[in-house]
Amino acid sequence: MGYKIGVIGGDGIGPEVIAEALKVVRAVGVDLDTVDYDLGGTRWLRDGAVLPDDVLEDLRGLDAILLGAVGDPRVPPGLIERGLLLRMRFALDLYVNLRPFDGFSVVRENTEGSYAGGLWQRTFDEVAAEHPEITTAYCHVDAACIHLVEDPARFDVIVTDNLFGDILTDLAGAVSGGIGLAASANLNPERTGPSLFEPVHGSAPDIAGTGRANPLAAIRSAAMMLEFLGEASAATRVAEACTVVSGRAGTTVEIGDAVAERI
Ligand code: IPM
Ligand code: MN
Repeated sequence: MGYKIGVIGGDGIGPEVIAEALKVVRAVGVDLDTVDYDLGGTRWLRDGAVLPDDVLEDLRGLDAILLGAVGDPRVPPGLIERGLLLRMRFALDLYVNLRPFDGFSVVRENTEGSYAGGLWQRTFDEVAAEHPEITTAYCHVDAACIHLVEDPARFDVIVTDNLFGDILTDLAGAVSGGIGLAASANLNPERTGPSLFEPVHGSAPDIAGTGRANPLAAIRSAAMMLEFLGEASAATRVAEACTVVSGRAGTTVEIGDAVAERI
């Protein structure tokens, strides 16, 4: 019996890139027992369901969840985003959204906002005081945007709140190889339930079905999943194969095949 992984392809290019991620995980030899969940815009259009309560309960029993993307132009904006992705983050207490980029990482608080009585800043300051060996500095989000564009190497880690983290991580993707490479982990560090792994990019409905979606972000997200599950050497092999393939041109399937062959 392998790890029990819930797979939510979701909307747009989500299912295409997740298929390549699963292909690569199989190539690296980790035994996954996958369960497909039909969730997203097409499901909502068919029967009005976004994330039924019994499905959410089912998800709690998994080892991890691999998600493609949510967002469908045929559905009112925000309906699937809030009802599916944000609901899973809140209900499964995935309060850390870890997004590594080339040279630095962003830790995005994933279930609250910056307006909860200043709690965010106070907590950061308290934790920072316990780790004097780590140099910290505060900057407003507008200045952080300038630094990211002009000199991203000044950061090792950016710790930020939910909304700013969403915006900064698209920018971070753009300045460090493109959003097509950007992976993320939505973590429940206490492991009281499954964590969720997804590429940072969205559903890109304009290119869905054309074979032009870069699967490397989804594959790298699967590598983060392997690492969190304790499969460190498999995770490293997948991540290294992605680095080798990342300069190449090709279709979604060709890039997935190239990573799998490299492994
Ligand atoms: C992301 C996405 C989501 C977010 C949306 C779809 C709700 O943009 O994962 O970055 O804002 O968190
Ligand atoms: Mn986003």
